[in-house]
Amino acid sequence: MKILGIETSCDETAAAVVADGRHILANPLVSQIDIHARYGGVVPEVASRQHILSIIPVIEQALDAAGVTWTELDGIAVTVGPGLAGSLLVGVNVAKAIALARGLPIIGVNHLEGHIYANWLTDDAAPPAFPLLCLIVSGGHSDLVLMTEHGRYAVLGRTRDDAAGEAFDKAARILGLGFPGGPAIERAARTGTPVFKLPRAWLKGTHDFSFSGVKTALLHLVENGQIKDVADAATSFQEAVIEVLVTKTIDAARENRVREVLLAGGVAANSRLRQWLSGTSPVPVRIPPPALCTDNAAMIAACSYYRLQAGQRAGLDLDVVTGLKLA
Ligand code: KG4
Ligand code: ZN
Repeated sequence: MKILGIETSCDETAAAVVADGRHILANPLVSQIDIHARYGGVVPEVASRQHILSIIPVIEQALDAAGVTWTELDGIAVTVGPGLAGSLLVGVNVAKAIALARGLPIIGVNHLEGHIYANWLTDDAAPPAFPLLCLIVSGGHSDLVLMTEHGRYAVLGRTRDDAAGEAFDKAARILGLGFPGGPAIERAARTGTPVFKLPRAWLKGTHDFSFSGVKTALLHLVENGQIKDVADAATSFQEAVIEVLVTKTIDAARENRVREVLLAGGVAANSRLRQWLSGTSPVPVRIPPPALCTDNAAMIAACSYYRLQAGQRAGLDLDVVTGLKLA
């Protein structure tokens, strides 16, 4: 079964062709990072206009690179939320137009669920085993999710303020390291030492996260002129955030006796987080390659495959849900 996936929830215009939910035939995207970097963050109105310009060429590129014609497709999958309304609308409307013109089934996908399913894009290697625990860490979310079967989720914990990626982006801005902040902090942290003792919000007895305290502590260090070496500050910040993410993930994995731990979302591209979690977990850890951690359309197509198999279909009244939740 070959599915065309479409993803336009934020600032990447992405299309992919995936076979049987596991094999990527093509996965191109157009990033808008250079455009938004000028403003220090994603500008929603600019993002939706860029999606309009890029979406058709990216879809054509996906089909060409996959060597698949329109008639060989079995379905269309598109992100319906969470995300920016104007951005999501571009993908959803293009997907509906294609579904109508080609008589193809269409399915709306939750972007967060898509991030989790990046872990199924491993070709013939064994797929993830249930029950599993997934830490989703992106620009908008830090969620600990227990998954007992395809499509069944229990959110055990979530952030109470800033998401992990958002914290990285804000810390980078505080340190003058540019946008997007995650990769910038990681780069700066390579040569630093964690000399600053920044606070860790353990929120004991819960699986929730909080990252606004560590960000504020960093801001105070800058305001008080205590930072001599930006690399040391970046390392101190990265260590503080990752220690909490890893410790709380492993606690939840033990408590729920899961068979595997999955990492997903843009922050999962961070090599310090990848190493630390893999090196500490009592159960196997699975992490997509970095390019499948950040936003892409292959993960959306992968997720939809299991929905289509279960007989789910959307109608042409499919709409965006900007605040869509997982469970
Ligand atoms: O999943 P994603 O591409 O988009 C959302 O759904 O939000 O995640 C983007 C987030 C940004 O906050 C970015 O700074 C962060 O992921 N990120 C990283 C790294 N690469 C991207 N954070 C830490 N280290 C990285 N290497
Ligand atoms: Zn994302």
